[in-house]
Amino acid sequence: MEESGIKIINLAFESSCDDFSCAVLLKDGNGIKILSNIIYSQDYIHSIYGGVVPELASRNHIKASLPALRIAVSEAGITLKDVDLISATAGPGLVGSLLIGLMEAKTLSFALNIPLIRINHIEGHIFSPFLETAETEESFPFIALVISGGHTHIYLVKSHNDIKLAGRTRDDACGELFDKVSNYLGFGYPGGKIIDGLAEKGNENAFKFPLPMIRSRDLDMSFSGLKTAVISTIDKLGGPGKIPENIVYDVLASLREAVAEILYKKTAAACRIYGVKTVAVSGGVSANSRIRSIFNGYGKNNNLKIFFPSVPHSTDNAAMIGYAGFFKTSVDPVENREEFLNINADPSWEL
Ligand code: KG4
Ligand code: ZN
Repeated sequence: MEESGIKIINLAFESSCDDFSCAVLLKDGNGIKILSNIIYSQDYIHSIYGGVVPELASRNHIKASLPALRIAVSEAGITLKDVDLISATAGPGLVGSLLIGLMEAKTLSFALNIPLIRINHIEGHIFSPFLETAETEESFPFIALVISGGHTHIYLVKSHNDIKLAGRTRDDACGELFDKVSNYLGFGYPGGKIIDGLAEKGNENAFKFPLPMIRSRDLDMSFSGLKTAVISTIDKLGGPGKIPENIVYDVLASLREAVAEILYKKTAAACRIYGVKTVAVSGGVSANSRIRSIFNGYGKNNNLKIFFPSVPHSTDNAAMIGYAGFFKTSVDPVENREEFLNINADPSWEL
């Protein structure tokens, strides 16, 4: 698989939450190229409930699973016979959702008699900033900050197979905080992008929100106190729907600033502790414009290399799963029959 000059086509699946995605990647002497990356978003389905409804997510994944495959293969200009290996997210995530993509991958692997690679969703995010730069090898070791709807984790990454958890949120994930505040204000789900847009119109210094655990000696974080402070500020100002627009923008800009500050201070501390000069920020919240500008500014002033995925590769997608798959061990359905048959979704798979 690693031999130069050999072309490898990797078909990847991601279905851990409410997006169903199928991608085709090509690896050859010139690096790794994304040939297609189809994403079926279910935001419009879950937005009316204020969050992801697991049963609805898996049912809609079933509807998306075959069209996504067909379009990904045709957009890549290949046929299924050209595929050399298959990568699929096996956890963590919602079990019903994970099973749809993983079982489609397993079935294809068996039918086409090609190896299957199980990928940890978080590992997919960790390496997503390198999807379009192909600089991973030169970047080790790096600090990975994964910020999404379910994760706010800091890792020390020494190689594709040496990833150590260095710090994490003790309660809410930062994406969850944005989603909950957005819901409280009646702005809908997912809230991160909405808050990011509205915060642009506000003053980030208007409110001073608490920065929980900012002075703790470890790299852990906490966001639930910040959430409570923002919600009680909204209530004191008159409650959802009763506050002048410009004040709402100020609240959201100040909230976004507080989140960005917690994240960059903890990441900076991780760089100091481990003597690392490269940072890779990933996950849906890494699309945030203020987080991007604060991290990039900090990197410039402190001689650190900062990597972000492109905005479309920040949120869940199968291209990042295929990318991680190129560096992992596969299971051959014929040679390792028992291991292959035992491949299953693991909703709480910890890296
Ligand atoms: O990685 P992701 O697609 O799914 C999970 O693995 O959770 O991340 C989704 C999260 C949601 O909480 C959403 O509100 C947040 O990413 N998000 C953002 C932005 N775009 C999406 N948060 C802040 N700013 C954004 N621009
Ligand atoms: Zn994710």
